[in-house]
Amino acid sequence: MTIAERAVLRAAVSDLNARSAAGDPAAFYGQQLLLSRIYALSTQLPEGPTAEGSTFVHEVLRLLEQATAAAEDAALEPGALDAAPTEPSAYLSWLKKSAREHRVYKHPYYREFIRDHATADDLRNYVIQESVVDGRFDDLLATMQVGTSGDAKMEIAENFWDEMGNGDPSQVHTHLFNQIFRVFDIPAQELERSLTANALLSGNLAVLLCRYRHLYPEAVGFLGMTEWLAPERFVHVVHAWERLGLPDVGIVYHKLHITVDSRHAAGWFHNVVVPAATSERMRRAIARGTLWRLNSSARYLDERMPDLATHRPV
Ligand SMILES: [Fe+2]
Ligand SMILES: [Fe+2]
Repeated sequence: MTIAERAVLRAAVSDLNARSAAGDPAAFYGQQLLLSRIYALSTQLPEGPTAEGSTFVHEVLRLLEQATAAAEDAALEPGALDAAPTEPSAYLSWLKKSAREHRVYKHPYYREFIRDHATADDLRNYVIQESVVDGRFDDLLATMQVGTSGDAKMEIAENFWDEMGNGDPSQVHTHLFNQIFRVFDIPAQELERSLTANALLSGNLAVLLCRYRHLYPEAVGFLGMTEWLAPERFVHVVHAWERLGLPDVGIVYHKLHITVDSRHAAGWFHNVVVPAATSERMRRAIARGTLWRLNSSARYLDERMPDLATHRPV
């Protein structure tokens, strides 16, 4: 690729980022799709030649990542990170309180729509959108633990071993998650095509925060909040599954996480968050990652929330 060609492509990516920042939905989708495809180069084993080592792809990646991070920071309430207490247990309580007071907490998408109204097709679509995080949680943990030590590394290792079904291949969480795909017969080609911009963003944010060592505290907040919010949400998914009489094999994953993620969240808060919350810089960064998760999840659920007044379950 010539220098001139690179300049044209770089300008096109910057333009895409600018239009996305200005609120253009198609540009936002294009930005997140491109980012997810570049991430696939370093998160999936290739079948042939790959652009993983391209310096230009890396340059484009950084432009996309910086724009994505800037958009999340722009969504933070002014002063949101300033109120954090300095004492570790007070800090943890403050983090949880911030989450409880956030509109994403007990969002009606789960409490009303999924629980009482969703059809089998809605659930099928739901698992497609969720696959960007749940479908690779083990790899996210593996990536984010690099460079950690002591209690934090042990907690991540225990969490990872749970993801590995504690050594039983039939209980590996990503394997269990894929059982749902079998129930709904979701082919790989349909998967990427069906992902919305906000679903792509959720997956991209997780990869972004887990892959960089300087974003470790943000990953701590982001993944911790993901674990903490899961159990209550999954209660409603299980309720919907049973209401619709869908095959039990497809719901093992969600039933398991109602209990296991409560434990994961508690262990994570105690052994990963608290030891990491040693300085003002770290506390702000953990809170930043936490709020990125809460805010992006809220936008994603808002978008998925249908108008219940007009929704007619079949
Ligand atoms: Fe899991
Ligand atoms: Fe978990």
